[in-house]
Amino acid sequence: MTEATMMTEASPIPTAKPHLPDAQIVTEVRHWTDRLFSFRVTRPQSLRFRSGEFVMIGLIGDNGKPLLRAYSIASPAWDDALEFYSIKVPDGPLTSKLQHILPGDEIILRPKPVGTLVHDALLPGKRLWFLATGTGIAPFASLMREPETYEKYDQVIMMHTCREVAELEYGRELVESLKDDPLIGEMVGDKLVYYPTTTREPFHHMGRVTDNLASGKVFADLGLPPMNPGDDRAMVCGSLAFNVDVKAILEGFGLCEGANSDPRQFVVEKAFVGDGI
Ligand code: FAD
Ligand code: A2P
Repeated sequence: MTEATMMTEASPIPTAKPHLPDAQIVTEVRHWTDRLFSFRVTRPQSLRFRSGEFVMIGLIGDNGKPLLRAYSIASPAWDDALEFYSIKVPDGPLTSKLQHILPGDEIILRPKPVGTLVHDALLPGKRLWFLATGTGIAPFASLMREPETYEKYDQVIMMHTCREVAELEYGRELVESLKDDPLIGEMVGDKLVYYPTTTREPFHHMGRVTDNLASGKVFADLGLPPMNPGDDRAMVCGSLAFNVDVKAILEGFGLCEGANSDPRQFVVEKAFVGDGI
């Protein structure tokens, strides 16, 4: 150990608010339930992304190093600020702290957006289905505000399932606000169809996305034909188990999974890593 290092360890630098690497400032925080919150931060001028992509964000951990996690950008590519929609995991290394952020605080944001839930990964079609559970609605909160979504499709169906009604509120409020949105409201028109369901609390529509697709209930409710590979495109975002089950159903309708480099009829992304993997 050099003398200089010993000196540093023995005499810590006087406390001043650290300026985080890749820091952005929190501008707004909303708590939706005791497990869900959303927040907005400043957008780095240089950040370009495609609606639906995700970035790494975080805070400085207890060891003084950046503690980063993948987060879908919930705001559209044209927005001046960046929005995120987050779970609060009680003992989660990041979210146990992140849930306490306030306007004016700093977060770390690595400006390298990536992801498969992008328009480029799908072949042209008539109808676009967004299929999500829980915080898996975040990339679709971006895509529902993206003009390209309405330029490319005649109809856009947002299926979102949560255990309880309160967990649907972020999505419900967003969809409701789009009708009157000065920038995109006219494009959205009546193209956007919202189909929220719960599984563990009574609600006017209930049942898992998978069951409502497999039984044909959602098609009957909306007056649409069953999915077919000529007309229907889908983007899927939920737990690994959800994604696996939905993928099998979409393949049963004859749709094939695509990617950025190989556009096809549907794309899938994990809303989080867990479920024992
Ligand atoms: P972690 O140690 O990361 O997770 C602990 C456990 O909590 C996990 O094993 C899992 O069982 C559970 N968990 C983690 N995230 C979730 C979740 N979102 N919903 C339900 N259970 C969860 N999270 C978001 O809240 N919003 C997003 O937009 C988002 N986008 C993501 C995009 C991608 C591509 C991936 C891979 C993950 C995304 N996540 C998102 C999950 C996120 O990266 C973190 O896992 C989450 O913020 C919890 O971090 P943590 O350190 O507190 O706990
Ligand atoms: P259910 O209540 O029947 O388990 P979670 O809170 O566990 O992440 O689940 C979010 C929502 O996703 C719940 O409504 C849950 O339904 C549903 N869900 C969980 N796993 C699947 C799956 N494999 N297929 C379809 N829906 C699922």
